[in-house]
Amino acid sequence: MEEQKDILILAIESSCDETAAAVVKNGREVLSNVISSQIVLHTVYGGVVPEIASRKHIEKINEVIQEALDQAKMTLGDLSAVGVTYGPGLVGALLVGVAEAKAISYGAHLPLIGVHHIEGHISANYIEHKELEPPFLCLVVSGGHTHLVIVRDYGSYEIIGRTRDDAAGEAFDKVARAIGLGYPGGPKIDKASKEGNPEAIHFPRAKVEDAPYDFSFSGVKSAVLNYLNGCRMKGEEIIKADVAASFQRAVCEVLVSHALDAARAYRLSKIALAGGVASNSELRALMEKACQKEGIPLYYPSPVLCTDNAAMIGAAAYYEYRRGVRHGLDLNAVPNLKLGER
Ligand code: KG4
Ligand code: ZN
Repeated sequence: MEEQKDILILAIESSCDETAAAVVKNGREVLSNVISSQIVLHTVYGGVVPEIASRKHIEKINEVIQEALDQAKMTLGDLSAVGVTYGPGLVGALLVGVAEAKAISYGAHLPLIGVHHIEGHISANYIEHKELEPPFLCLVVSGGHTHLVIVRDYGSYEIIGRTRDDAAGEAFDKVARAIGLGYPGGPKIDKASKEGNPEAIHFPRAKVEDAPYDFSFSGVKSAVLNYLNGCRMKGEEIIKADVAASFQRAVCEVLVSHALDAARAYRLSKIALAGGVASNSELRALMEKACQKEGIPLYYPSPVLCTDNAAMIGAAAYYEYRRGVRHGLDLNAVPNLKLGER
């Protein structure tokens, strides 16, 4: 049998505040994964400032790509294609990656593959779980998205549940700010919760009427704010770790119960987690417990592959490449790109 040629993809991610590039072989083998985080620059503002993000991407992107190629011991001539996130995300940030990928595609005569950011997050699971193949249910929980997605096949997605208001990560970030834990909130709440009692305060587990797989996190966020105001007015001490742990428990319980209900209803025998919040230790622990009880295998990426990175974009781009997807040099950034849209 003729040996198949390796597919080597240079992937670029710049949708928010990480400038990232990676070289991925055959979709699942990461040869390099370079991430330049801007978090410290945005921390003083308590969140990502879009214009600062774009300016930093422009400064860093060539260096990050060169580093990714060097670590993989490759030059542009060794590559099969270039993949890039073209949405959703901050338009000015996305444009930097898209313009860069187009220049490389043109200059090095490489096919160009635009990737949906969430498809990237989902595909992060393929990197460390070589046996994972669709179909499966994926709970996507990031700073901008909270979706329950049926991954029917590579590149074929059906969203069966979504948030009606805040994304899970956004709720973590807002609550962290309110308790005074700083930015980015998710990891800070995760850490503080380890010292707290998750049953100290009961925060609501919101259900959305007639939409069993949809989420709503604005209620729990407001409940935390009301609790904090109440304590301040009564002059009661606020135990930050207890507030963090109780909030985290409320959010994670809803995520877990919706995911398991959906897996049962749609007869999906595998569940995967994706996105920045998928690195939350409580979410992982509660999901592990629930999946074990039901006999459902659970998959999630290592923390570095949960938050924004380019290796996940390389994994997604590989399956798009295999499906024959190619974008032209007119590829544009699409800040509100829908999953499954081209
Ligand atoms: O996927 P991601 O890097 O960016 C988006 O595509 O949005 O997710 C970032 C989000 C932030 O809201 C951050 O607070 C949250 O993921 N996050 C966490 C944890 N690590 C990151 N949330 C809860 N627990 C964590 N350990
Ligand atoms: Zn992301």
